Amino acid sequence: MTKKLLASAALLSVLAGAGLAETPPLEQKERYKVGFAQMESNNPWRIAETKSFHDTAESCNWDLIATDAAGSAAKQVADVDSMIAQGIDVLFLPPREEKPLIPAVMKAQAAGIPVFLVDRSVDPDVAKPGEHFVAFLGSDFIDQGERAADWLIENFEGDQGIIVELEGTTGSSPANDRKQGFDERIAQDDRFQIVASQTGDFARDLGRQVMETLLQAHPDVNVVYAHNDEMAIGAIQALELAGRKPGEDVTIVSIDGTRDALQAIIDGKMGVTVESSPFFGPLACEVMGKYAAGEEIPGWVQVEDRIFTADNAAEHIDEAY
Ligand code: AHR
Repeated sequence: MTKKLLASAALLSVLAGAGLAETPPLEQKERYKVGFAQMESNNPWRIAETKSFHDTAESCNWDLIATDAAGSAAKQVADVDSMIAQGIDVLFLPPREEKPLIPAVMKAQAAGIPVFLVDRSVDPDVAKPGEHFVAFLGSDFIDQGERAADWLIENFEGDQGIIVELEGTTGSSPANDRKQGFDERIAQDDRFQIVASQTGDFARDLGRQVMETLLQAHPDVNVVYAHNDEMAIGAIQALELAGRKPGEDVTIVSIDGTRDALQAIIDGKMGVTVESSPFFGPLACEVMGKYAAGEEIPGWVQVEDRIFTADNAAEHIDEAY
């Protein structure tokens, strides 16, 4: 890994030195060979995102090569290598973590392949839109965290909120930013205290296990903030096993908008989930077409997110995934 990071730093300086730090053009043609290097498929969000790319492929004239890195950043880098060798015209990449995927971005760029980051980004101090990749298509994760905190501040009825935070994948852009947005906003209300903040890797089972452990250390917890719905559902399972009543004696706030989360809201177990849409296929098609036509693409093509609560969850559950 260290060797790989050194190699990426070397590659970056070669690119900068050779004046290659601008994004390659995309030829306009009938069909494109498109790479989509998915990071994992262990939750409904990832499965819905991959399906969205497959569903878009025919209407957008793509020959789609989609891979699954099974939760390994190293495999995701190798998958991109293989796509470059197969001669893709364009790469859509959701980087599992902010730093380890930078070499993959740089390599595709050096091979003349325009790269679009989807749903997650890379370290902005090292790789920049308009230079090393065309654009980031995705949500404002800081805003998502702030909106989760705002809902809690407005709706929490107790005197003191003892919060457990379940973080997403360590080193990933949504985990970093959702934490920043929530923690900074909640610090402004002295009713609340975050007593523990630990990663559950965006996974249901790990979220459940971490919650079980944290419940023993902090039996007085009455708020759970999960960086995604899968971990929130895992936390609900752990709380119920411990005899607690999510929605009554523990307020659950989360992010994504999955079907299970909307059902938990309808059932009164979860308070809110801030939307983070996985349906990137149509947007990817549109932005790629504009880029091929020579239109200027903003460095961040921002996705607008809704918010789901008891007021509207039933209305939206049929469109959820
Ligand atoms: O990058 C977006 C996040 O990744 C989603 O919120 C999460 O559920 C997924 O794994």
